[in-house]
Amino acid sequence: MMTQSTATTPLTEFKAKIGSRQARVGIIGLGYVGLPLALLYSEQKFAVTGFDIDQRKVSALQEGNSYIYRIPAADIQQARQRGFEATSDYARITQMDAVIICVPTPLDEYHEPDLSYITDTAKAIAPNLRAGQLVVLESTTYPGTTEEVLVPILENGNKHGLKAARKGVAAGREFFVAFSPEREDPGNTTVARRDIPKVVGGLDPQASELAAALYNAIFTRIVPVSSPAAAEMTKLLENIYRCVNIALVNELKLLSLRMGLNLWEVIEAAATKPFGFHPFYPGPGLGGHCIPVDPFYLSWKAKEWDFRTRFIELAGEINISMPYHVIESVGRALNQQKKALNGSRILILGVAYKKDIDDLRESPALTIIELLQKEGVQVSYNDPYFKMIGRGRKYDLQMKCAPMDKLGDYDCVLIVTDHSDYDYPRIVRESQLVVDTRNATRGIESPKIVHC
Ligand SMILES: NC(=O)c1ccc[n+]([C@@H]2O[C@H](COP(=O)([O-])OP(=O)(O)OC[C@H]3O[C@@H](n4cnc5c(N)ncnc54)[C@H](O)[C@@H]3O)[C@@H](O)[C@H]2O)c1
Repeated sequence: MMTQSTATTPLTEFKAKIGSRQARVGIIGLGYVGLPLALLYSEQKFAVTGFDIDQRKVSALQEGNSYIYRIPAADIQQARQRGFEATSDYARITQMDAVIICVPTPLDEYHEPDLSYITDTAKAIAPNLRAGQLVVLESTTYPGTTEEVLVPILENGNKHGLKAARKGVAAGREFFVAFSPEREDPGNTTVARRDIPKVVGGLDPQASELAAALYNAIFTRIVPVSSPAAAEMTKLLENIYRCVNIALVNELKLLSLRMGLNLWEVIEAAATKPFGFHPFYPGPGLGGHCIPVDPFYLSWKAKEWDFRTRFIELAGEINISMPYHVIESVGRALNQQKKALNGSRILILGVAYKKDIDDLRESPALTIIELLQKEGVQVSYNDPYFKMIGRGRKYDLQMKCAPMDKLGDYDCVLIVTDHSDYDYPRIVRESQLVVDTRNATRGIESPKIVHC
């Protein structure tokens, strides 16, 4: 009689737990990336535990509230009913089968990678690690971070002498590590999150398979790559591609303005080519947590290899100069009306870093406000997503959102972010002067409009 093998491997066990929804998933860092991810797992009936050091976020979630504009409180409440919990107690990491890290990766004051959030998280996880667990890093970072930074902390800090699974590590005494970049595009409603293919690179083939099984539960397609570093580099390539192309159209916009051409019209025409061209659009400067920051992670790492990433540096130079171009354009537009920047009243429309989102991070609007204030301008702003602008890592503005009812009182209305909620024909009608950095007033003919 044939006997069936009952041997289980970490992979078969893990897959079975995923299939039966018994796997416990921990998400560390409940921000713009981590919270939606936790909700995706919760929707798929996993018991999800979210970890965050920000006690206000933990309390808000425990009480069924949301702090991200596009996530309704009802979604949090439903997740809570399905067993979602938020905590700042790292001891609970031990209970997890898989842990996904989504903490920030900013630049420090010298424009160099600040990995402190990753290292702090790794130090907090390490004492609570147990054999067989899968740890996945999602935070955007330079190639080598997972293997050179995360893994050594996890290995040195755990109580049981566990090692990350690599060739030569005895089975049973190991944990698994992978990198899988987050690819969310905030505000983009054209692709469902689960339809964005998920790139996964494990430290060894088993780790890759475990991570693929974990993400298969919530994503339609998994794209395996050969290592964590390849997955880290994939994310950077995607963002550098955007950064460089945005710089290209920003530079071409400056030329087009001199030549009396509307670059947006040109881009729309070029975009009709069915192959070989992808449209990017100029603007008042780069914003967000990713595009202005991530490329510098690679240029920093490249120095270790005696390599200068010239495209990244040039793109950075052009993109960083854009807010200054906006100030010059506003100054020239006022000058045409025999007014000076100093003493004028300017209303900025839209401060989020891009349209229809509630994210201020690295927004060019913040730089523009500060530069205008330095010129002696009385600056006000309106943004349906921000009732006030307080204090951030690099700014302290303390401004309240101004109403839209007295547009004619301002010497200039400056469109920085083209939110869909704005009634642009009305804005042009009621304002004395409109400086438009986004081509938001397309199709409206008026001598009051200045494109910049
Ligand atoms: N926001 C995006 O659209 C986006 C897209 C792709 C990739 N990313 C990347 O994802 C990562 C996270 O970005 P985000 O936008 O979600 O950041 P975020 O600032 O919105 O959220 C990060 C969260 O991590 C928490 N945190 C910090 N240190 C912690 C610690 N030691 N333990 C537990 N929690 C901790 C913070 O309190 C915060 O709630 C970054 O590397 C970013 O580059 C972001």
